[in-house]
Amino acid sequence: MDAAEAQRRAAGEKAAALVEDQMVIGYGTGRGAAAALEALAHRGIRVRGVPTSQKTTDLCRRLGLALTTLEETPQLDLVLDGADEVDTARQMLKGGGGALVREKIVALAARRRVIVIEEAKLVPALGATRGLPIELVAFGWKSTLLRIGEILPGVARREGPLSDNGGVIVDAPLPRELDVRALDRALKSIAGVVDHGLFIDLSPTVVVGGTAGVRILG
Ligand code: A5P
Repeated sequence: MDAAEAQRRAAGEKAAALVEDQMVIGYGTGRGAAAALEALAHRGIRVRGVPTSQKTTDLCRRLGLALTTLEETPQLDLVLDGADEVDTARQMLKGGGGALVREKIVALAARRRVIVIEEAKLVPALGATRGLPIELVAFGWKSTLLRIGEILPGVARREGPLSDNGGVIVDAPLPRELDVRALDRALKSIAGVVDHGLFIDLSPTVVVGGTAGVRILG
């Protein structure tokens, strides 16, 4: 196991400990989320959860974690998820795994958001290590891409399959001087943009696995 995976596992255990018996939760996507879900399954408490991707659905079935939907339970107690980057104000960039649309819907449905990361994900400013994932409606995606390129030059389609929603995932480099709230509004006003990976002003509890152990931010 490499150092980052060991850090995620340690953080995942702490995050899973925040879940209480009978809670209805969100099941995030990616390695951080998986570390928390595996630890949660080991605890053996009774929870139900809404998965944020097909991959997570499959994982939960393997782990024996009960599934539900937002139709059955539109409000959740908590969500366990990961992130690609977290800045000093705990604003987050997500979507490296292409599940950002469902992840954001689930994050907004939850009273508490618990995010599992390794310390390399802590950044001074969002966009430091990667571009911003954005999901587009497949219809007319090249036209939508051009319009995004007017505000985020260099945006490009990601190699790989469509998202679980049948959408096209693109990644856009972020400028150094970034007003995340203004960019959020600008992107959401472009027809054909389903959502983007800026998860802002969500006051997450960030569980960080690091060389000196696990610490909790927020
Ligand atoms: C999935 O779309 C993402 O938002 C993930 O939560 C994010 O990419 C973090 O993934 P890892 O924990 O695998 O790095």
